[in-house]
Amino acid sequence: MTTRDRVALHVNVDHVATLRQARGTAYPDPIAAAVICERAGADGITVHLREDRRHIQDDDVRRLRSLATKRMNLEMAATAEMVAIANEIGPDIVTLVPERRQEQTTEGGLDVVTHRDLVAQAIQDLGAIPVSLFIDPEADQVRMSKELGAHAVELHTGEYAHDESASELARLVAAAEVAAEVGIELAAGHGLTAENVKELVAKLPNLVEVNIGHALVSDAVFVGMAGAVERYLAALARA
Ligand code: PXP
Repeated sequence: MTTRDRVALHVNVDHVATLRQARGTAYPDPIAAAVICERAGADGITVHLREDRRHIQDDDVRRLRSLATKRMNLEMAATAEMVAIANEIGPDIVTLVPERRQEQTTEGGLDVVTHRDLVAQAIQDLGAIPVSLFIDPEADQVRMSKELGAHAVELHTGEYAHDESASELARLVAAAEVAAEVGIELAAGHGLTAENVKELVAKLPNLVEVNIGHALVSDAVFVGMAGAVERYLAALARA
């Protein structure tokens, strides 16, 4: 099956690093997990280098760059430190996300309307590296992302994943329509599972890619990384 027949799967391996950091051991290695995911058919690997380094470490990002054979997506805050690291390492794409130190995970999208100057500066400083913006599913956020020259938007699906309500799905559909209208590539992520992602695949015809971490790594506890990737690839097939 090619990516034309299904939505592309980027596996976020941060939670493999979370398990490693919990004990300060060398295992489990998130980059070894990334290699298995690629071999099992994942289209890319996503890592979030947080300012507090709570899971992924700088060395992981370097090793992923040297071992990745598919697309490498570096999630990061729009700070000078992170921009310098991205420019040194050269991921295939950077996703700019908001970061709050006390949060459990990325809570809410980056408000690119309020922070337009900061985002514009980061996009400029990242030069030739394409930039995706992780935003809430709102028309003004999508339009501003296009205006700022972003390559793609990643719609925050956390609210939808929380209750799978019709209203949250409608918000995502509406934002996806704006993305199609302005001509910007569409990705989605956060809280997605092999079950709740199917509705997005069905309702968002222009969805190109999803970034999935926590649920996939959780499934891997039972079926292994390769088995989990295969399960998600099947869920991402277009009818
Ligand atoms: N996309 C972005 C921008 C994220 O920050 C995260 C969480 O790190 C994900 C996708 C993956 O979310 P989850 O781990 O809930 O699948």
